[in-house]
Amino acid sequence: MLKGSLFHALGISDDLQLKTFANKTGISVSKLRYYNDSNVFPINSDLDRILINSKLTATQLRLQLGMLNNSILAEIQKNASSIYEIIGEIHESKSKEKYSKVFETSYGNMFKGNCLDLIEDIDNESVDLIFADPPFNLNKKYESGINDFKDETEYLVWTENWVSKCVYLLKEGGSFFVWNLPKWNTHIASILNKYLTFRHWISVDIKYSFPIRNRLYPSHYSLLYYVKGEKPNTFNHQRIPLEICRHCGGDIRDYGGYKDKLNTKGINLSDIWYDIPPVRHSKYKNRNSNELPLKLLERVISMASNEGDLVFDPFGGSGTTYIVSEILKRKWIGIEIGDVSTIQRRFEDIRTQKEYIYDIQQNKNVLFTDRTRKMRSKNGYWLPETLKKATNNR
Ligand SMILES: C[S@@+](CC[C@H](N)C(=O)[O-])C[C@H]1O[C@@H](n2cnc3c(N)ncnc32)[C@H](O)[C@@H]1O
Repeated sequence: MLKGSLFHALGISDDLQLKTFANKTGISVSKLRYYNDSNVFPINSDLDRILINSKLTATQLRLQLGMLNNSILAEIQKNASSIYEIIGEIHESKSKEKYSKVFETSYGNMFKGNCLDLIEDIDNESVDLIFADPPFNLNKKYESGINDFKDETEYLVWTENWVSKCVYLLKEGGSFFVWNLPKWNTHIASILNKYLTFRHWISVDIKYSFPIRNRLYPSHYSLLYYVKGEKPNTFNHQRIPLEICRHCGGDIRDYGGYKDKLNTKGINLSDIWYDIPPVRHSKYKNRNSNELPLKLLERVISMASNEGDLVFDPFGGSGTTYIVSEILKRKWIGIEIGDVSTIQRRFEDIRTQKEYIYDIQQNKNVLFTDRTRKMRSKNGYWLPETLKKATNNR
């Protein structure tokens, strides 16, 4: 049985029917599969041939595929009452599956189960910050045993479901971050644009794959940052140290006469984050894949929430969001559909991670860290105080 909305619209349900349709239209099987699997609307001569052979019109095909362009949307708006009479009120299906609490801490509650079920029981407009790192649909098996299972259409339907449900949980002024591959975040952005205000597409410079032939080398993850309403309730500026040569501590850029104008509290964080190291050190690594760096969560949570605020992450994994929330004294709600023992163990050894977070905090909101300060001083590079001295001696 072949899946996908194009095949469904064309009445193609097996390989033989697909081959026959390919022969009739002169469009290769692989191209038809591409249109179907990637949810791309065919255009030009491919569209003409599909329409002739399916006896559909372009509008019918668009409606069947749910790929509405602005002209169709305008017609729907004009005819809203008649369309409503046909389809009636659509109720979101509510799930009744059970999830269960596995442990609680001073600040949080950890559940095991499907986040879609838990979301139904969280009060609307009660959450200050949502951070979500969903499965990437790469067709791989998680340590949890959960498969990254879905074809593209299924993945996007599922994505729209959890994203829109999460939106209801956010307080006015609350922030919503989604970590994903750029490809999926283009879709997630189009869902979020319907409900929230866009703030940033943050590119986090982490290499995650080998170079691919005929492609640019994929070197960043996308972190979407949206807010409910016009502006965030909380935006705590984060500053980072000046980028310097790792070996000698020298300047990487020429700051000319501007050195003394640089804020001693550090450089304003931009929307390109190049200073997030992947989790490698075994001391901090809690599972083989998909564990986000503590530094990433420390930054997001410090930036978009305050002590006592409520943080929700629907996809627990190894529990990075929950550990950081706990250490930073944010209330949190967590859930993981697979094994939660990694998260539990992580909380039993929270001390190591506290030290790491403390270290991260010591090294932000400063122009130079203690370590780079020492290196620069040893190698004769300027520091804010030496610049001042030089000016006073003039
Ligand atoms: C990309 S990982 C999250 C990693 C996490 N951010 C960390 O730093 O460890 C996604 C996780 O979501 C879990 N998951 C997938 N579908 C889920 C669902 N419907 N409800 C709850 N958890 C789910 C998977 O088992 C996987 O552990």
